[in-house]
Amino acid sequence: MPNPASNTDLRQIGDTDIYVSPVAFGAWPIAGMTSLGVNEADSLATIKTAIESGINFIDTAHCYGATGESEKLIGRAIAQDRERLVIASKGGIHWDTQVVRHYDGRPETLIAQCEQSLDRMNLETIDLFYLHAPDPNVPVGDSAMAFSKLIQSGKIRAAGVSNLSLPQIEAFNAVCPIAAIQPPFNMLQRETYSELIPWCVSNSVSVINYWPLMKGLLAGKIRRGHQFAAEDKRLTYSIFQDEQFESAQRLLDGLDPIAVKTGHSIAQIVINWTINQPGITSSLCGGKRAWQIKETAGAMGWQLDTDCLHIILNLINNSELN
Ligand SMILES: NC(=O)c1ccc[n+]([C@@H]2O[C@H](COP(=O)([O-])OP(=O)(O)OC[C@H]3O[C@@H](n4cnc5c(N)ncnc54)[C@H](OP(=O)(O)O)[C@@H]3O)[C@@H](O)[C@H]2O)c1
Repeated sequence: MPNPASNTDLRQIGDTDIYVSPVAFGAWPIAGMTSLGVNEADSLATIKTAIESGINFIDTAHCYGATGESEKLIGRAIAQDRERLVIASKGGIHWDTQVVRHYDGRPETLIAQCEQSLDRMNLETIDLFYLHAPDPNVPVGDSAMAFSKLIQSGKIRAAGVSNLSLPQIEAFNAVCPIAAIQPPFNMLQRETYSELIPWCVSNSVSVINYWPLMKGLLAGKIRRGHQFAAEDKRLTYSIFQDEQFESAQRLLDGLDPIAVKTGHSIAQIVINWTINQPGITSSLCGGKRAWQIKETAGAMGWQLDTDCLHIILNLINNSELN
């Protein structure tokens, strides 16, 4: 579990011997499926910069890219650094040839996807492999059996789950003990806190949260009047619309003076706050440009003082989204 006193230190995943940086690189944007303007050179530079900036933890999935583009890029970028990195991937979702998404949690599918992910990344072992989401047609306990087999065969070191309810997490954990869960969690979306995080703390399970920046909204550069490209998929999320967007803007307004006082950017303040929440082991920060992950990696290695934390708590509690 995290030690808030020293947030550059590596943190333990569950009770495994796997240790990760509190900021992780989330490799969904480089898959190029929803992020605009993604290209190979920038994606490879982004992964390299993440590693050079002190991030040792990379998160991808079998379905990140219609044909595994994210995993293939990671495989190319990490060869020299593999030994010092923790690589996480996920199985259970895939795209068909029409790029329609399918959920498939059958054990044979999960094992085949894990093997394909290993090939794409040119790895012998995936450090942390998650069930990406539940398959409504397969009991999670059945999916969990595949993870036990993958651990026994040495293809993965630890199992995790994502997007599962607490009863589903418990059912999975009864068959194959989990080391980590991967839920959404950020300043504006804290539902996870109510039951999942306490359960994880009691059971020595790590919380690796996604969307700490809420798809860039909490990076502080998307402000009132921002002109989104027509094809920007973020506009389909309610948090980027109307009252919710305005509520997020008021939070950002309140963070502006903290940025001035601390000399850190809003993205760094938001992530620093997130990685120091009790129960959070590491936060998945996406990016498609080197400068982005360099900035977010700068959220490690310092502490917000109590005055700033008090202001932030008030801002969050006053947000209409909480
Ligand atoms: N398990 C799951 O179901 C699940 C679901 C979602 C995500 N995840 C994981 O969590 C990771 C994070 O989610 P995400 O990548 O969707 O979103 P995110 O980390 O909340 O936001 C990433 C986006 O924010 C913008 N950004 C990043 N750094 C920035 C900076 N310093 N300044 C300004 N903008 C910045 C970039 O978008 P633009 O440049 O386009 O503005 C970037 O693509 C994923 O990559 C993935 O690994 C898992």
